[in-house]
Amino acid sequence: MRKMAWYDVAGVALGVIGSMLQLWIITLQTGNSPHTEFLLFPGSDGLFQLAIYDNEEYRVPFHPTQDVKFLLYTPSNRKEAFRIFVNNVKILRTSPFMPNISVRIFIHGFGMSTRLGKFAKEIVKTFMAEDADHCNLIHVDWEKSAMAPLYNTAAANSKEVGYELSKLVHFLVSNGANLSTVHIVGFSMGAHVAGFAAKHFKKNYGQMLPRVTGLDPALPWYFVRGALERLDYTDADFVDVIHTNGKSSSMFVGLGIHNSIGHADFFVNGGDKQTGCQGLLNRVRELPACSHMRSWKYFLESVASAKKFLAVPCPDYPSFKAGLCGDCDKTKSNCSMALPMGFWTPPTARGNFYLLTKGRRPYSYT
Ligand SMILES: *[C@@H]1O[C@H](CO)[C@@H](O)[C@H](O)[C@H]1NC(C)=O
Ligand SMILES: *[C@@H]1O[C@H](CO)[C@@H](O)[C@H](O)[C@H]1NC(C)=O
Ligand SMILES: *[C@@H]1O[C@H](CO)[C@@H](O)[C@H](O)[C@H]1NC(C)=O
Repeated sequence: MRKMAWYDVAGVALGVIGSMLQLWIITLQTGNSPHTEFLLFPGSDGLFQLAIYDNEEYRVPFHPTQDVKFLLYTPSNRKEAFRIFVNNVKILRTSPFMPNISVRIFIHGFGMSTRLGKFAKEIVKTFMAEDADHCNLIHVDWEKSAMAPLYNTAAANSKEVGYELSKLVHFLVSNGANLSTVHIVGFSMGAHVAGFAAKHFKKNYGQMLPRVTGLDPALPWYFVRGALERLDYTDADFVDVIHTNGKSSSMFVGLGIHNSIGHADFFVNGGDKQTGCQGLLNRVRELPACSHMRSWKYFLESVASAKKFLAVPCPDYPSFKAGLCGDCDKTKSNCSMALPMGFWTPPTARGNFYLLTKGRRPYSYT
């Protein structure tokens, strides 16, 4: 394990001081101190940052074309993104978009962006590798609307972002993309953006999106509001969810939803805390980001092979722990019942699935 360096400590301290400063500025600007509950959420860099569980009083007007960017990568522009716009056929025609290959859309979470941190870069690296399955990869950059520290404001914005995305998908399909190849993958708050996109798509265009994958969908704000206000299995033909941080230590709440909300729900290491995220150094450095961020790291690792992350169906974690359902990935038992988690999950998968991982890359036992 890498030792904590002075700049890690300084980074955390600066993050906290910076968030306090933002809070102070907001108080000055609005004249009332935010009704606050504090949360710690991972930022793009994986270190935690402050999130204020505010009222919705700081909502700012939403400008779709400025606040949401759609960044396209294809086999002919693997490294440099090409920005496309909803309903701008002229730009789409001049873009490298290829209607005859699949469309994979990725959405980051609260306080994240496509410029900073590893999330966006690793996705591009994985899907734009020379030998990767050819696809149009679209990053939904909603950095401006997802900005920390106002959590509820970002959550309220996530609906609008989803609406914009539904329009983009419709626009691409109207211009030759094959709807059955569209796959939307969202991390944390981004999972709910995907859910909203699918809900709007169903409502406005009368069609279901084929697949939405939720990577540890964010819990705060969303869960208490019910299925219409979060990602849900009714949103798309197939909704698969990877749970990695449903509950955390006594110090922090889990950042992800622990309950089953998809057609297929994968609970990795029980779905609450991840192997390798314990230990004092990891806690200071990465908690609560570590377990939450693992969801997208597992997903990206899964792309390499349908034989990775083999999960067995099981009613709950205690039964799985007791060995009642077998454990394909680690001990190779009950593999006839197992399904791959992540990229290769078949759309026919239904129910709750369990598996264990290693604490470090490669995380899958197989
Ligand atoms: C898609 O279309 C492009 C350009 O028309 C062509 O070069 C490419 O081979 C096609 N790819 C597939 C997978 O059909
Ligand atoms: C659309 O994609 C699906 C799934 O890959 C495929 O079965 C179907 O033939 C495609 N339709 C067209 C018109 O290319
Ligand atoms: C295999 O999994 C099924 C479904 O969960 C369960 O009913 C069965 O008992 C398991 N068998 C073994 C040997 O673990």
